[in-house]
Amino acid sequence: VKDIDEKLAVVTGAGSGIGQATALALAGAGAAVAVCDLDRAAAGRTADRIQDLGGRASAHQVDVSSEVEMRALVDAVMSEHGVADIVVNNAGIMSDIAAAAEVPLSQFRRVMEVNFWGVVHGSLLFLPHLLGRPSAHIVNVSSNAGLVAYARMAPYNSSKFAVRGFTETLRMELQGTPVGVTAVFPGSTKTSLLSSPVVDDERRRSLQAWSESNWGRSPEAVADAIVRAIRKDRARALSGLDSTLLDLIVRVAPGSYSRLLARPINTFFARAAAKR
Ligand SMILES: NC(=O)c1ccc[n+]([C@@H]2O[C@H](COP(=O)([O-])OP(=O)(O)OC[C@H]3O[C@@H](n4cnc5c(N)ncnc54)[C@H](O)[C@@H]3O)[C@@H](O)[C@H]2O)c1
Repeated sequence: VKDIDEKLAVVTGAGSGIGQATALALAGAGAAVAVCDLDRAAAGRTADRIQDLGGRASAHQVDVSSEVEMRALVDAVMSEHGVADIVVNNAGIMSDIAAAAEVPLSQFRRVMEVNFWGVVHGSLLFLPHLLGRPSAHIVNVSSNAGLVAYARMAPYNSSKFAVRGFTETLRMELQGTPVGVTAVFPGSTKTSLLSSPVVDDERRRSLQAWSESNWGRSPEAVADAIVRAIRKDRARALSGLDSTLLDLIVRVAPGSYSRLLARPINTFFARAAAKR
């Protein structure tokens, strides 16, 4: 979509972080935005901010993991706006930082339902409407954790690799149609991701405090990368030096990167643990 002006963009998880920044950036580029989030009040706040800045927005409460709710969202967007041109499947949650064998299967399943099935729902349920537009775009947010495996993050890693596989397949299948597809791989970004509901309470507070003081780019930087990828129909958008370096390491040493990275990743998590 070369010209975002006057387009209708749907953004999930737009109540905070990368989704909120992306909704604001798309509105700034002239799009009307359907702001979607599990947190109704947060969606309302983002929509209000867009309207205060002179843009057009509607707010929608939805759980992206639910097929029924996502079908209802498609109906609501179509009846309110009449069209959909851009869909940014961004909503996601973090899993607890723990060895795969220690994570309750119910948590594993929930992370897949939100991070993977949420993206599948948003992509496939809006697709028939996107195919009817002169030019349209789907953006699916993966992660560093979709480029490289980390120890102690199996559910999140699995979901983000799955998002990548699904998105790359979709891009291949939609060649020759008006619908472009981008997979986004943000590096560490300052958001409230580590407050994800599946993470244990005490750990959540300390991880959040640690992440706020230590690392991450701004969500606006990721939003800029997303808007550029939509305009240029890029297959992938990496954001941050960490993504670029990890991507390079995996390409150069696909068979041995887990050995090469084991020590730095362990040190990284040990530091996080020490802050608890
Ligand atoms: N922050 C990072 O360092 C980072 C890095 C790489 C990828 N990402 C990805 O970016 C995306 C956005 O995360 P963020 O960092 O902005 O976190 P965030 O927690 O600030 O924002 C996520 C938003 O998604 C919403 N949400 C959660 N579950 C939902 C559901 N079931 N249905 C609808 N909305 C739901 C939350 O209410 C929240 O507003 C996620 O997919 C995340 O995995 C983040």
